[in-house]
Amino acid sequence: MMQKWNRKRTHFPLLAVLFSLFIAASIFYNERNIQQIHEDNKQQQSSITHTSLLASAPPKTSGANDQKRALASLDRFTTCASTRKYSGKKTGLTDRTMESSRRGGTPESCNLFSGKWAFDNTSYPLYNESHCPYMSDQLACRKHGRTDLRYQTWRWQPHNCNLKRGQWISMVCLLQSAIPPEKRSMSPNAPLTIFKAEEYNASVEFYWAPLLVESNSDDPVNHRLADRIIRPDSVLKHAAQWENADILVFNTYLWWRQGPVKLLWSSEENGICEELDGLGAMELAMETWAEWVASKVNPTIKRVFFVTMSPTHLWSREWKPESEGNCYQENTPIEVEGYWGSGSDLPTMRMVKNVLGKLGPKVSVVNITRLSEYRKDGHPSIYRKFWETFSPQQLSNPTSYSDCIHWCLPGVPDVWNELLFNLL
Ligand SMILES: *[C@@H]1O[C@H](CO)[C@@H](O)[C@H](O)[C@H]1NC(C)=O
Ligand SMILES: *[C@@H]1O[C@H](CO)[C@@H](O)[C@H](O)[C@H]1NC(C)=O
Ligand SMILES: *[C@@H]1O[C@H](CO)[C@@H](O)[C@H](O)[C@H]1NC(C)=O
Ligand SMILES: *[C@@H]1O[C@H](CO)[C@@H](O)[C@H](O)[C@H]1NC(C)=O
Repeated sequence: MMQKWNRKRTHFPLLAVLFSLFIAASIFYNERNIQQIHEDNKQQQSSITHTSLLASAPPKTSGANDQKRALASLDRFTTCASTRKYSGKKTGLTDRTMESSRRGGTPESCNLFSGKWAFDNTSYPLYNESHCPYMSDQLACRKHGRTDLRYQTWRWQPHNCNLKRGQWISMVCLLQSAIPPEKRSMSPNAPLTIFKAEEYNASVEFYWAPLLVESNSDDPVNHRLADRIIRPDSVLKHAAQWENADILVFNTYLWWRQGPVKLLWSSEENGICEELDGLGAMELAMETWAEWVASKVNPTIKRVFFVTMSPTHLWSREWKPESEGNCYQENTPIEVEGYWGSGSDLPTMRMVKNVLGKLGPKVSVVNITRLSEYRKDGHPSIYRKFWETFSPQQLSNPTSYSDCIHWCLPGVPDVWNELLFNLL
């Protein structure tokens, strides 16, 4: 998934604030949310259609129909004629493509991502949940009954410095509502959702590409989580949607954590897929994406960010030995510095670090993983809208259906945005 962000050079703080909503939404954008916004807002088609015109995969010329089919864009109807084991074929950025150079993020000595959570109910929350017109029902924990609101009032305190606050102190959603309704617009033409702030000539866009490369799950509403097919060597169709943005923010993670993925290479003529575990497939996709960044991004005019994985809190025994719950009823952060749980997959993390390392200064890492690991209290648990109905047994055992993946808002993702703002 990625977001792109077109902007004029001034008005940074405001735009950074606007951005917050999208980063929160981006990681776990729920298909139904998109559908709902879609229905509410059909009139907004306006000026963004140019992007879809660009969205065509480069055709290859050769005879057979089968081959044409194999080279057509993947969609949810794409199937594999057969599947074999992964051959070991590689894609994208190899070690020799770029020298690996040191990337510092900020040149100063302070590591923004090393620190602790400090209770701060004077400057937080950054906005009022109920005042945000774009709030999602799966993140609005207070609206859905959460009464302990401390999750909204933790500030991230790096060890050796303070985060710049500036206008950021104002609230994301509040600032949006400070722009008169006729001067802003939301165009939820999935997979590209665009927020425009007219007076700032700015747009913040959310683009759905959960697996980075082309896949059969690129439709945010009708996708195939269970049976994912990717084209590991093709990112161009998506890149056409984001290549003109000034600032690009990417992330991808949970979609790779659902078992093996099928690979359908562009050169494959008979619809034969290969099967590979999620981590291996994610690495291929990241390398293809990195190749795009390495060859297409001019760092003097474009900034590229990669947000690292957002952890889950599915097993309370990891922070409270011998307990059998999850994030349900957790209401304080973990205080053990350096805590890791299984919600942050370390092999994935090493792979991501390695691929990003090859890009050197062309990409800035927003490393939110560890600081979010501490926040077992930040998930909706039972306090969100669920679309499924639960059985009496489930209802009598709230742990069984608690959501320990998404994050309440206001909450942890606001801090991710503050960090992003500090890196700009
Ligand atoms: C902030 O928290 C402290 C300690 O829990 C409490 O006494 C105080 O009333 C809170 N202030 C606000 C504005 O919520
Ligand atoms: C948020 O706004 C609602 C409605 O205006 C208000 O009732 C509520 O007290 C506000 N919450 C906070 C924490 O200010
Ligand atoms: C926005 O763009 C228009 C057309 O390019 C330009 O006339 C206007 O001055 C710009 N406004 C701002 C605030 O940059
Ligand atoms: C993010 O930070 C953790 C430690 O906090 C580190 O182990 C990991 O390698 C970092 N990831 C990247 C991509 O830099």
